[in-house]
Amino acid sequence: MTCLDFIQPLHRATTRDYRGRFAGEDKASCATKAKAFGFEYFDGDRRYGYGGYSYDGRWLPVAASIVKHYRLCPGDRVLDVGCAKGFLVHDLLKVLPGLQVSGIDISEYAIANAMPEVKPHLRVADAVALPYAAGSFDLVVSINTVHNLRLPQLETALREFERVGKRKYVVTDSYRNESEKVNLLDWQLTCECFFTPEEWLWVFHHCGYTGDYGFIFFE
Ligand SMILES: C[S@@+](CC[C@H](N)C(=O)[O-])C[C@H]1O[C@@H](n2cnc3c(N)ncnc32)[C@H](O)[C@@H]1O
Repeated sequence: MTCLDFIQPLHRATTRDYRGRFAGEDKASCATKAKAFGFEYFDGDRRYGYGGYSYDGRWLPVAASIVKHYRLCPGDRVLDVGCAKGFLVHDLLKVLPGLQVSGIDISEYAIANAMPEVKPHLRVADAVALPYAAGSFDLVVSINTVHNLRLPQLETALREFERVGKRKYVVTDSYRNESEKVNLLDWQLTCECFFTPEEWLWVFHHCGYTGDYGFIFFE
């Protein structure tokens, strides 16, 4: 198991108004809308989620890092769990044409509004019940998704990644100090797991997860 820091540089480049995001609207009501993972979460107002989830190529360096680190070759099979509109799937294919990339997401909205080029590679499914046979993928990646699961579902999902993937890479929100904890608590809308890196490693071990991992910190 290796800690791979492919995402945090991308995350640092985003400006966030931690305290002003909800503009006076009740945060519980915003979170309830966000957790439907529908239009409001992806393409509605920023207080409900992304505030417009559009392709801008920002996943290209991440895709390149993944391809390089895992020495992926044309024909290798990769699954993105929590693929949303398929941006990473698109960029993996751009970096390495010939890769066999699939994506699943629980959001019918995201899959319906996915990039046309990759739509045939995507399907609606739940991370806790992956619709694939054991060992189907050379690599399973899941970025910014598993912290949305409650602990029992998180365990099931991690065991699913183990079942279908030969290698695995999971990236999740975390915090290292009180400042990052407060920022995470302020910013998040859909998070169910609030763990330090040490706690995440404990969870991974407990769930039999043997893949690589990375953390997103709200610095
Ligand atoms: C923060 S977004 C991350 C999307 C994308 N991976 C990225 O990093 O831009 C979280 C994604 O997880 C999906 N999701 C939430 N719960 C899920 C589940 N149980 N199974 C599959 N996808 C799920 C949401 O629909 C959403 O697309």
